[in-house]
Amino acid sequence: MERTFWYKDAVFYQIWPRSFKDGDGDGVGDLMGVYEKLDYIQSLNVDAIWFSPLYPSPNADYGYDVMDYMDISAEYGGMEAFRKVLQGAHERGMRVIMDLVVNHTSDEHPWFQASRRREEPYTDYYIWRKAKKDGTLPNNWDSMFEGKAWQYDELRKEYYLHLFAVKQPDLNMDNPLVREEVKKIMRFWLDMGVDGFREDVITFISKDKGLPNGSPLMPAAKGISHYANGPHVHEYLMEFRDVLDQYDCVTIGEAPLVTARRALEYTEGKRPELDMMIPFQCMEGDCFLTDYFPHRFSLRKLKWIWGHWQKTLRGRGWNFLYLENHDHPRIVSRYGSEEYRVESGKALAASYLFQQGTPIIYQGQEIGMTNIRLESIEDYEDVQTINHYHTFFTNRPEKDRMARIWRASRDSARTPMQWNDGPHAGFTTGEPWFHVNRNHAEINVAAEEGDPDSLLNFYREAVRLRRSLPVVRYGTFRQFELWSGKLFVYERRSKAQRLLVICSYTPEAVKFRAPKGYDLRKGKLILRSHGDDVENNGFVTRPYETRVYLFQDRRVPEV
Ligand code: GLC
Repeated sequence: MERTFWYKDAVFYQIWPRSFKDGDGDGVGDLMGVYEKLDYIQSLNVDAIWFSPLYPSPNADYGYDVMDYMDISAEYGGMEAFRKVLQGAHERGMRVIMDLVVNHTSDEHPWFQASRRREEPYTDYYIWRKAKKDGTLPNNWDSMFEGKAWQYDELRKEYYLHLFAVKQPDLNMDNPLVREEVKKIMRFWLDMGVDGFREDVITFISKDKGLPNGSPLMPAAKGISHYANGPHVHEYLMEFRDVLDQYDCVTIGEAPLVTARRALEYTEGKRPELDMMIPFQCMEGDCFLTDYFPHRFSLRKLKWIWGHWQKTLRGRGWNFLYLENHDHPRIVSRYGSEEYRVESGKALAASYLFQQGTPIIYQGQEIGMTNIRLESIEDYEDVQTINHYHTFFTNRPEKDRMARIWRASRDSARTPMQWNDGPHAGFTTGEPWFHVNRNHAEINVAAEEGDPDSLLNFYREAVRLRRSLPVVRYGTFRQFELWSGKLFVYERRSKAQRLLVICSYTPEAVKFRAPKGYDLRKGKLILRSHGDDVENNGFVTRPYETRVYLFQDRRVPEV
C-alpha cells in the first residue's frame, strides 16, 4: 500500500480512558464517555486520537498489563462501544491509534497461565530461568517498578522475568510464535480500521543472549544495557513492518532513555521500522533521566534538548512532540507556574506546537490541569509511585518523602478530567475511581469554553494555525537568545514564510529585541497571550508572555 505519511500534518490527542469521561455512572471513564466527547475532541482541531490501553486487564498497571489483546475491556464498554467510537471519530475526520503493549502481558493472560503449566505451544512464550546453582536469582537485573526483575513461580518451579511490575511478565520475543502473535494482533486492529499503534517500551523487546548481569554500579535499572535496543530489535521490528506496510498507518515507538541519534536507527530511511520515537529527553528539563531525580527547572537545558532533536532528525527522521502524557506529572506544575497557570500554559503550548514534527496533546493539558498533592501514600493508586515511596529515601522524614511523590508521581496526570465546576468535575455521576483535583472549581472545560482568552481557546487557535502554515511542516528551525534562561525564541523558515515564536518563561519583565533581519512591524502577530505593542523593534515581556509573528512573502497567498 502506498503510504501517505498523513501523520506529518497531524496533531494527536491522547486519552487515558479511565479518567477521561464516565458514560455509565460507575465512576470509571469509558468509551461511552469518549463518544459523548467526540465533538469536544474535534473542536480542538486535532486529527487523531491515541488511546492508552483499552484491553481487558486486571489493572495492576492500569491497562499496561493486558489479558486479551483482541478485545476491549467490559469496563470501557466492550467491542461494541469501541466500534462506535472508531466510526464516530472517522466520521469527524479523526484517526484512531491503539496502544500495542507487547513487551509483556498480564500474569492473568491465558498464555502465561498455560506457560506456567508448560502447555504447548506456550511453554517458551515467556522468559523462564532456574535459580543459579547457589540458589540466587538468575541475574542482577532490576525491575523498573518493583524490586528485582525476577519472580518465582510455584507451579513451574522457575523464575520469570518482569522488567516492570510482578504482574507483568516479559514475553520471549525470540520465540517466532510470539512474533506471529504480535502480527496477528496488528492485523486484527488494522483490519478493523484502526490507523496505527503507539508501541509500548518497544525498544526493550530483545534481550541479550544469556541474560548477563548488568553493571553493579548502576543505581537503579540494573541490566538495562542488556535489553534496551537489544541485539534483534531491528530485525523483529522489520518483521512487523511487513504487516504494517499493507496499511496506511502510523507507528510511534516508546523508547525510554532514547537519544536522538539512536532514534534515527529506528526511524530513518524509506522503509523505517517505526515512524517516530517518543523523545523522553524533553521531560528532562527539571530532572535527570527520571522524574524521581529532580533538579530545578532549567530553560537552557530544555532549549538545548529541543534544538538537538530538531537538528538531528531534520530531513532524516521525524519528531514526535509532547509535553505531557500519563507517565509524567503535569507540565504547568513543572516547567511553568501554577501561579501564572494560564500564561505559562500558553508559553509552553507555543514552545512545542510550532516545532517540526507531530505534536500530541494529553487530556487536560489543554485546560492547564495541575498536579495533585494527596495527603498520604495510601491515597495513591499507581504501582510505580507506591513502590518508589516504599523503596527509596525511606529514612527521610515523611514530609520529604511525600514532597518527592508530589513532584514526580504519574498519578498527577491521572486524576479525572475536569469538565465543569459541578460534583466530581462533571467526570461522573457516580463515585469517581480516583481523587478529583479540588481546583476543578476554577480549572475546567466549561469555564474555559466561555473565555476567549482561555488556555483552551489558545490551544484551539494554535493547532488551527499550525495546520494552515506549510512552514510548520517544512521550514528550518533556528533559535535566538540561545543563552537566555528566560526566553525561548525560535524561527521556522521556508522560502515563502517565516515564523518567529517568542515565549517568556518568567514573570519578570524581560527586554526583547527582534533578531537581525526582522522588523516586527512588518510581521503579522498571529497568536499572542498579551498585547501587541512594539517599541524599538521589540517589547518588554509581561509574565510568561507569548507571541507568534508570521512574515509572509507577498508572492504566495496569505493564510
Ligand atoms: C510504558 C507506559 C507506562 C507503563 C510501562 C509498562 O512506559 O507508558 O504507563 O507503566 O510502559 O508497560
